[in-house]
Amino acid sequence: MPTPPQHSLRRAERKDRPLLARFLNSPAYSHRHLDWREPLDWLGSNPFWILERNFEVEAVLACPPDPPDVAWVRLFAVAPHTSPSWTWGVLHERAVKELSEINPQATLVSLGLQDWFSDLLSLNHFEHHQDIIVLAFEGAVPAQPPASPGAYLRLMRPSDLETVTQVDNLAFEPIWRLSADDLRRAYDRSTYKTVVELDGEVIGYQMSALNGFNAHLARLAVHPQAQRRRIGYWLVQNVIQHFIGEHGSWGVTLNTQDTNQASLALYQKVGFRLTGERFPVYVQPPIK
Ligand SMILES: CC(C)(COP(=O)(O)OP(=O)(O)OC[C@H]1O[C@@H](n2cnc3c(N)ncnc32)[C@H](O)[C@@H]1OP(=O)(O)O)[C@@H](O)C(=O)NCCC(=O)NCCS
Repeated sequence: MPTPPQHSLRRAERKDRPLLARFLNSPAYSHRHLDWREPLDWLGSNPFWILERNFEVEAVLACPPDPPDVAWVRLFAVAPHTSPSWTWGVLHERAVKELSEINPQATLVSLGLQDWFSDLLSLNHFEHHQDIIVLAFEGAVPAQPPASPGAYLRLMRPSDLETVTQVDNLAFEPIWRLSADDLRRAYDRSTYKTVVELDGEVIGYQMSALNGFNAHLARLAVHPQAQRRRIGYWLVQNVIQHFIGEHGSWGVTLNTQDTNQASLALYQKVGFRLTGERFPVYVQPPIK
């Protein structure tokens, strides 16, 4: 797509942080991924492009792959009085070209957290993949399930992160896998994180955080070879016990995908109920 003469496209660099911080204070439209990093923490990773008009930032798009096969739209923001669809067209074309050079296998994925952005993605041929749904815990703290022989639940340690990354990447479908870097960030930001060990091996983990009076269970996975042995139930029951039973928190929420039958069955069995909130997930079909 040709850019008019007063426009220019350039790669965002680390030194653009103050400029982009000012720009992000007042864009007309802004999509920020639900992320373990702030959008500008992606500066220095590519693709991250700026569209300028007369040397003023008009729009930005960041979608660096992480892990290598998955590129979430981390940031798309547009200045007031500017067309989101035209700027998206210019930035997306450039970013996708670069993404295919970085890793031809990478899939471009995005959340549609606001209607304007969902509509933009749909109009640009992204396919609706699934919805993220929100669940909230209701009721009394459930009883601890009978322990599997040889298994015990303990606090996670930084030295567990390597195995936790392996379990995470084996358990989740590709677009939901986290890189080791992001799992470390999740670890740092979580206030309660536990693992279940079986015969000395970590086979499941969870990470949760307290936000005010409510807790949010952000991440849960059980090694595929250890599933259906009540390990997931134990981890989730223990989170409720910890926050509601012991610390007097008002509630626990979590997100999952509407297509994730295993997690939905588990959460509902523990006592979570759907809140009705949902956010679409879009995938860009491979470009032929
Ligand atoms: C979801 C997950 C954590 C469940 O862990 P798990 O240890 O296998 O689950 P449990 O054995 O504790 O299951 C407890 C209950 O949940 C339900 N359940 C769990 N897995 C199920 C499945 N695959 N199909 C149907 N129901 C399932 C059952 O009711 C089960 O009780 P039951 O075995 O007595 O019938 C696991 O499948 C996983 O790691 N999935 C990939 C990562 C993921 O989706 N994480 C959560 C989403 S954010």
